[in-house]
Amino acid sequence: MTAPPSSSDANAPAQHFEVRPFAAPVGAEVIGLDISKPISTEDFARIHKAHLDHHVLVFRCQQITPQEHIDFSRRFGPLEIHVLHQFQLKDHPEILIVSNIKENGEPIGLGDAGVYWHSDISYKPKPSLGSLLHAQELPSEGGDTLFADQHLAWESLSPELQQRILPLKAEHSYLAKYEELRAKNPWRPKLSQAQIDQVAPAVQPVVRTHPETGRKALFVSEHFTTRIVGLPQDESDALLAQLFAHSVKPEFVYRHTWAPHDLVFWDNRSLMHLAAGTPDHLRRRLNRTTIVGDTPF
Ligand code: OGA
Ligand code: MN
Repeated sequence: MTAPPSSSDANAPAQHFEVRPFAAPVGAEVIGLDISKPISTEDFARIHKAHLDHHVLVFRCQQITPQEHIDFSRRFGPLEIHVLHQFQLKDHPEILIVSNIKENGEPIGLGDAGVYWHSDISYKPKPSLGSLLHAQELPSEGGDTLFADQHLAWESLSPELQQRILPLKAEHSYLAKYEELRAKNPWRPKLSQAQIDQVAPAVQPVVRTHPETGRKALFVSEHFTTRIVGLPQDESDALLAQLFAHSVKPEFVYRHTWAPHDLVFWDNRSLMHLAAGTPDHLRRRLNRTTIVGDTPF
């Protein structure tokens, strides 16, 4: 189940694929790559570079199994096992089911993942490097996912504000919005003490440096950031509100409309994302893997 990904791909034949940037601030489409086939070292290097350049890659038409989704994800790093183990795919704990579907009155997956802007797992000391969502069942309307470029958000702040926030740290908490979400979505499980212990708040830099590209990015979010460390609560609230509003301006955003079998791989160190929402009567289901990243600096 958690065997290391195959290393025999070194001798795999080259696949012929194209990386086509979107007419958007971030994102590119990868056309012609089959993730269920072995990927050579050179092809993998191209994918890796495209991911760093564009921050979100859309691999079209991937008819892959959960195990192939896991194996591809693991080439980028170890995988996170989500605290809501209720929503793990059977026999594949590395996959979190993201879905609004109920079977026999019971939700089959996390139904409200991403209702606030966020970067995955920023509430842990080692937040996620990136996440991969694979479309399983899509609604006939709605269900888009938005991605906002936090390098552009940082770079477009005034020099005065950049200077003010550069040394700051902020607290990120999984529990901050949990009870609010649970009140709206009563299917959200009451967390056990063991689950609560796994998600103690983490302190993160307000501005992080991407460990691979060296670019700075804003790293605060509506979903998980509760306060700026060392500021009085009213000042902290005002500064966070200003940064939240700035960080998701339309000029930083790519809106993804899902097509069947899309696999979308984004960089949580560069982007925040948001679920635009699905009408309640329409079914939507995606499988997610989440790659563990480094300690932000
Ligand atoms: C997630 C998430 C957004 C969506 O799975 O991490 O935020 O559109 N999903 O489902
Ligand atoms: Mn998410």
